Amino acid sequence: MKTKAAEPIRIGTKLVKNRVTFAPTVKFDWTDATGIAIDRFRRHYEDRARGGVGLICVEATCVEPGGRLSPTQLGLWEDGQIAGHKAITDACHAYGTTMLVQIHHAGSGTHPECGPAFGPSAVERRGRTCGELTKERIHEIIAAFVTAAKRAKAAGYDGVQLHACHGYLINQFINPLTNLRTDEYGGSIENRARFGCEILRGIREACGPDFILSMRHSAAETTLAESCAIADLYVEAGADYLQMSDGIGPYEVEYPEGYPYNQCCWMGIQVHEHMKGRVPVSVVNGILTPEQARKLIDEGLADTVDSARALLADPNWARAVTEGAEHIPCFDCKVCFWSPFMPHRCPAVAKRRAADPDCPDYTDDQRPIPEFAKKG
Ligand SMILES: Cc1cc2nc3c(=O)[nH]c(=O)nc-3n(C[C@H](O)[C@H](O)[C@H](O)COP(=O)(O)O)c2cc1C
Repeated sequence: MKTKAAEPIRIGTKLVKNRVTFAPTVKFDWTDATGIAIDRFRRHYEDRARGGVGLICVEATCVEPGGRLSPTQLGLWEDGQIAGHKAITDACHAYGTTMLVQIHHAGSGTHPECGPAFGPSAVERRGRTCGELTKERIHEIIAAFVTAAKRAKAAGYDGVQLHACHGYLINQFINPLTNLRTDEYGGSIENRARFGCEILRGIREACGPDFILSMRHSAAETTLAESCAIADLYVEAGADYLQMSDGIGPYEVEYPEGYPYNQCCWMGIQVHEHMKGRVPVSVVNGILTPEQARKLIDEGLADTVDSARALLADPNWARAVTEGAEHIPCFDCKVCFWSPFMPHRCPAVAKRRAADPDCPDYTDDQRPIPEFAKKG
């Protein structure tokens, strides 16, 4: 089988061995309040590296404990957390996989048990009103992102991804509904992008030119034109990879009816077209079959394909894309979307567990889905 998805691609100064990437997927209950990556995380990521994926972005990892989305979320807010991440990067590098970690701050979405929630402005979202960040706190959080990136580098990562979508802090600065500021962090596109750009510049200065800086950016916040303009600013500030997803919305886009990929993926394709090869652009969402993934790359609609659920269902999915290997498909049942206790309800994982009683992705945990997770 011949597909460009199997060919290497240059990202920043690194050569990634193929164009199939593992999108970040949190597993909250796998750690505890320490935020330390225990061995189970190493096994989970190593399985995907062994399965042939070109690049892995390790899940949302918080830069300060007061910005966690869940009381049990991975962290890089202190040096004691480096060793657990180093075990992950060492194991995956042995398979030639490029390793990123997604660094994250939930902002107004901070879990109530983790501290008071703050965002760019004191606005109500999902039934809670957050506090407004002072400029001093904004600068402290930027510094926390930079220090977390330095720890990521010490842990052996090839770069970091900034979580700038899905309604978390960087995204809250971008969206005019959650950012009502009148200072240099609000108002114009340049001002709303300033927070993300200052983080990028700080990390580039601290971690040097050979460290991949990926931005997980919302492809239409709230229009495609704005999102493209912000993407340009991110690239100017040092981003060398854009991994597109969605954000807060509402999205003012005219998604073509009957298009073979869903709206989120289509919006990412538009940003890829806008970039014209200046930096590689990845698209995501609903890419569940190897045929869909190959078509995106072979027809030049994206530079890499990001997959979450297909790679949760089967760690060997990358080989199904690049070599046509057999795989267990994702059933698109979406239960994993609504459960922070990663796919204990996933029928594909249960199938793998039947063959491998030691399958690290399986848990007998049957706790009900908490309210905050149901809200998405
Ligand atoms: C269990 C689970 C956990 C997720 N965790 C994260 C995360 O940590 N960071 C993030 O940016 N997106 C996260 N996502 C979203 C995925 O990265 C991806 O964008 C989404 O699942 C759509 O892609 P897919 O159709 O390939 O699953 C998560 C999705 C799932 C299903």
